[in-house]
Amino acid sequence: MPELQTDVAIVGAGPAGLMLAHLLHNAGIDSVVVDNRSHDDIAHTHRAGILEAGSVRMLGADGVDSRVLTAGHRHDGIDIRVDGISHPLDFPSLVGESVWLYPQNEIFVDLAAARARTSRPTFFSVTDTSLGDIGTERPWVRATTADGDDLRISARYVVGADGSRGPCRAMIPAERKEKFFHEYPFAWFGILCEAPPSHEVLIYSRSERGFALISQRSDTVQRMYFQTPPDTEAADWSEDRIWTELQARVAGPDGFELKTGPIIDKTVLPFRSAVHEPMQHGSLFLAGDSAHTVPPTGAKGLNLAFADVSVLAPALISAMTHDNAEALSGYSQAATRRVWKAQNFSYQMTRMLHTDPDQDAFETRRSLGELRSMLESVHGRRYLAECYTGWPDD
Ligand code: DHB
Repeated sequence: MPELQTDVAIVGAGPAGLMLAHLLHNAGIDSVVVDNRSHDDIAHTHRAGILEAGSVRMLGADGVDSRVLTAGHRHDGIDIRVDGISHPLDFPSLVGESVWLYPQNEIFVDLAAARARTSRPTFFSVTDTSLGDIGTERPWVRATTADGDDLRISARYVVGADGSRGPCRAMIPAERKEKFFHEYPFAWFGILCEAPPSHEVLIYSRSERGFALISQRSDTVQRMYFQTPPDTEAADWSEDRIWTELQARVAGPDGFELKTGPIIDKTVLPFRSAVHEPMQHGSLFLAGDSAHTVPPTGAKGLNLAFADVSVLAPALISAMTHDNAEALSGYSQAATRRVWKAQNFSYQMTRMLHTDPDQDAFETRRSLGELRSMLESVHGRRYLAECYTGWPDD
């Protein structure tokens, strides 16, 4: 296969990589996208489902034709249950915003279709991806295509949207980067089930038995999670045991009961915070999980990836169309401002809502005090609503 020349080589065809490719395309900038996963693998990987208003606006870009507004559901709040007592947060009255429930794999399907309509190349199922010369103005990406051909891409810039285990981040020299990491002493057990929604909005529940999240997917399929030790084996949990545990974690004097049904998927999700700085080196720029991972509480992962792209796309466009490479110099600093706000919110929600089996009784009561200070004050509720729906652009 001949060497492909492009403006931007994008490693990773998840929502961040494809959203970026789309915004570049709309500005007349060429890109080549590669991913080691197949289209169907990505389309069938269950990830979070909550979109900030800013992410929804990005999906409204010309030509994406996202189904978020037609197939997604607007949510005007969440319910935070504390030991069985419900505390509704109403986002429009608190901060004038809403969020949308629309699963990440559907976003991927929309963006992949939009990409296909541009006729610009996307290679799924590649192997042996490597990159180099990122310290020069002619970096390259190589891979083997699904057909076994050698793919050589020569670009002006490379973007690593290749997730937390991709090859791009490792290209930044060790002496030029720093890793910030926090481990949490639990994981989430996630299920998909065939049942109607149990409530109008998502329920985040703190209980003596630990945290539970009652989320949704559609009128007939629901997503739920509960806090569990990290070494939990999904196979050890029968349907009955899962429903008993979930129900116990949301039970309260209001008699609230979950709507149950057959469980069609069970997974144990890892739980950690990591930030890698800077998010750029030479001609390489990182976006999304390749540069940062948040714990799932608060659903910031995809939203942060889109926020990175909303900073990176105009900077790349300015660099390519006005020969203004300076526009890119502030990318990492601008993107990490929001990353750390999201890390803080995800950490804070996690700490306020989960119980750590090894923590002392002081910490258990202190974190309950923190949660009550938030929920029992309009300022606290407004703060939570602002973090959840997403901060205005800096
Ligand atoms: C979902 C996941 C989250 O982590 C969250 O905070 C809200 C919703 C979800 O998968 O639906």
